[in-house]
This record gives sequence, C-alpha cells and structure tokens, in this order.
Amino acid sequence: MAITQAILPVAGLGTRFLPWTKSVPKEMLPIGNQPIIARIVDECIDAGITDICFVISQGKEMIPQFFYEHPELEAELEKRGKLEQLKHLQKYDDTNFHVVYQEEQLGDGHAILQAADWVKTDTVAVLFGDDLFTGGRSGLQQLIDAYDQLAEEDSGAIVALEDLSEEDIPHKGIVDIESEHSTIAKLKSIKGLVEKPKIEDAPSSFGIVGRYLIPKSTIEALPTVAVGYDDAHSQGAAETLLAAGNQEIRLIDALKSQLGSIPILGLECEGTRLDTGTPEGYVHAVQVLGVLG
Ligand code: UTP
Repeated sequence: MAITQAILPVAGLGTRFLPWTKSVPKEMLPIGNQPIIARIVDECIDAGITDICFVISQGKEMIPQFFYEHPELEAELEKRGKLEQLKHLQKYDDTNFHVVYQEEQLGDGHAILQAADWVKTDTVAVLFGDDLFTGGRSGLQQLIDAYDQLAEEDSGAIVALEDLSEEDIPHKGIVDIESEHSTIAKLKSIKGLVEKPKIEDAPSSFGIVGRYLIPKSTIEALPTVAVGYDDAHSQGAAETLLAAGNQEIRLIDALKSQLGSIPILGLECEGTRLDTGTPEGYVHAVQVLGVLG
C-alpha cells in the first residue's frame, strides 16, 4: 500500500533557539527564501505524500498558514505578471493539510499520538523538522523506496539511520543491529534501541535521524509507554499520568516495546544530513543550502 500520509510534529518549545522562539517557531527560520518547514513539506510531496498533519502548539499557527491558499495575493501576482512567484505559491494547492494541537509538550511520541485519529493508512511517515537532507534522494524517499521493495510480511517500522560521529551519539537514538537484510542494500534488522546513550554504552554508531515509517500498531503502542503507565488502555489515562508525573511519551520507546513482535528495520541513508536543531547547525545549513535557494 502506497505511503500517502505524513505526520510532522512541530509542537516543541524550541528552547535552544530562545529568545527567537518566544514569538516565532524555529521551523519558520529561513533558508534562502523558504522557511525550514517548507523543505520538509517539499520532501513529503516529492516522495508522493498527499496528506500532511501538522502537530502544533498554541502560537505556532503560522506553520500551517504558510501552506494555505492565498487567493488575494495570487490574484495580485497574476495581475502584476509575477508568474514565477505565483507558481511557487500554488505548489501546495494539491496537498491536503490538517492540524492538530498538542496542548502540553509531553514528548515527540505524545505529539504523534494527537494525530492518531487522523491516520487512515496502514503505515504513516513521521518527519521531525530538525534534520534536513541534501544531495540525491531525500531521507523519506529512501525509506519509501526500501519499504516498496519489502514483502508485506516483512514490513514493520523503518527508521532512517546515519553512521554518526562520536560527538553526535549522546544526542540521538542509537540502534543495536541484529543483521543486514538479505536483498535490500543498507537495510538492517534492529534488535535494540537506546535513547541518547553515553558513548561507552552505545550498542553501535548508527543513530536515528528524523525520518520514520511506522505502522498503526506503533501509534497504538504509544499510550502504553509513558513512564509509570502499566494498567489502563486509554489515551486519557496516559494523559492523566503524564500530567501528574511530568513524564514523556517518546516514539523510540514505542518502537522498543514492539521489538520481537514486528520487524523494526533501519535504513542507512545516503546523502548529507544537516541538523538545524541548534543555532550553530542552523547557521551551517544556511551556508550549505542558502546558496542553492
Ligand atoms: P526537540 O527535542 O528538538 O525539542 O524535538 P524542541 O522543543 O523542538 O527543541 P529544544 O530541544 O527545546 O530546543 C524534536 C521534534 O519533536 C517535536 C519538536 O517540535 C521537534 O520537531 N516535539 C517535541 C513535539 O512536537 N512535541 C513535544 O512534546 C516534543
């Protein structure tokens, strides 16, 4: 089944970019004449995604607004003969955008959970905005190409991997690799996952870099992986527990809970990844991509 839906969790506080993020989301920082988030949305559209759900928080409405049609502006551009700019604006007209709110920032998995009712397909893409890909096929395209080659019984969750430098390992989810896939190059079967380990505890140097294909079952597992959650089966119970304990729901924990029950695969992605999640990384991304437009 084709992957046509993508969740983009962009509800985080963006504390590393304060004070900028006090009023403007970090996802709206420009690279060339585009905000960062437009590069993520373009990656989705180029990979065949037709339905995108933004998970936002109060005050981040300008993210979805950027992609909505603007008939008055479009009419004015047409009147003035600015057809190139008009084409740019109309690029998003065929994509269906949806918005859900994450009221409290209780983790990336909690953000994804807010989009659970919107997901209609067996497998959905998840893209985090800090990681951008440049050169060749995008991260999402590479995941989808691998997914398309898998037999149905072999497809579970697939995460994008990068062979990280030592300094990046303590900041990423690191995978424990069981084996290489017999026919699909660079695809690995994963037997363990560790979030942000110390270098000496890392089971490998391969880390997850912001792109996932997850089956519905992973979303269903999310409410069960709030720390301290052991009993109830409703999202509401997890919410109460989270609110009381100030814990997080993380996507990596949901995947961990599924090890052994569904295939958890990792694809070593080609190309260059740029991390725009820190001010230094963002400046570097502007230097690399800004000139390319
Ligand atoms: P980060 O860990 O980078 O957090 O989240 P952040 O809030 O964006 O930035 P810092 O660390 O405070 O500087 C990774 C992704 O997950 C989303 C973020 O918006 C970002 O795209 N996220 C994180 C949520 O949507 N909700 C959360 O509760 C946490």
